[in-house]
Amino acid sequence: MRGLFIVFDGLDGAGKGTALRGARSFLIAKGIPEEKMLVTAEPTGGLHGKKLREMLSQQVNPEVNARQFLDLYIADRKEHTESEILPAISAGKIILCDRYKYSTFVYQGLQGIPLEKIRGLHAGMPVPDITFILDLPAETALERISRRKRREVFEEIGFMEKVRQGFLSLKRAIPEENIVVVDASRSIRDVRGEINATLEKLIATAGN
Ligand code: TYD
Repeated sequence: MRGLFIVFDGLDGAGKGTALRGARSFLIAKGIPEEKMLVTAEPTGGLHGKKLREMLSQQVNPEVNARQFLDLYIADRKEHTESEILPAISAGKIILCDRYKYSTFVYQGLQGIPLEKIRGLHAGMPVPDITFILDLPAETALERISRRKRREVFEEIGFMEKVRQGFLSLKRAIPEENIVVVDASRSIRDVRGEINATLEKLIATAGN
């Protein structure tokens, strides 16, 4: 049995966390023991992640500090892949990760960092077996966010529209990767159903 690296990415408010928890329950129901799974997220709770959260709650304009955001997200990801994700893959675990490099392509891309530069910074980092991009209209996402917390720097409607389009363009920008766009405007049940069916096939082919 080999490890599987599964990523959930998309707009804030798209329901990544809910989808990820649904996938976890599905895998447990399929008989995969909890110790064979790693549930994780970016930005992480490490030093770089903490600094990022501080910046996200203070800045008002997403166009500023692009370089500093980029450096911190990359440093956080390097540490995350080296200390957690790669060892888990080697140990044959199933990794469920909330956000990964796709967020950098989209958000830092929108902050003005060229795609090729971002691509280069990820050379040598693990490529997920599958990435689910949860897609929904920015307005719906914003409604969901406003119900639960204070808004952060990347959570303004005009910017979120661009973020949505950025995520939708990833399949074309990175055609060599296994990216699946999921319509997340539907009910939780429908979204989970689609993800579970895809995971079922993936597990079967991976021999897990
Ligand atoms: P988020 O998933 O919302 O974290 P939390 O739920 O813990 O607040 O991520 C925080 C923000 O960081 C979000 O607006 C997207 C942004 N982000 C980037 O801009 N680039 C990245 O590489 C990542 C991982 C996140």
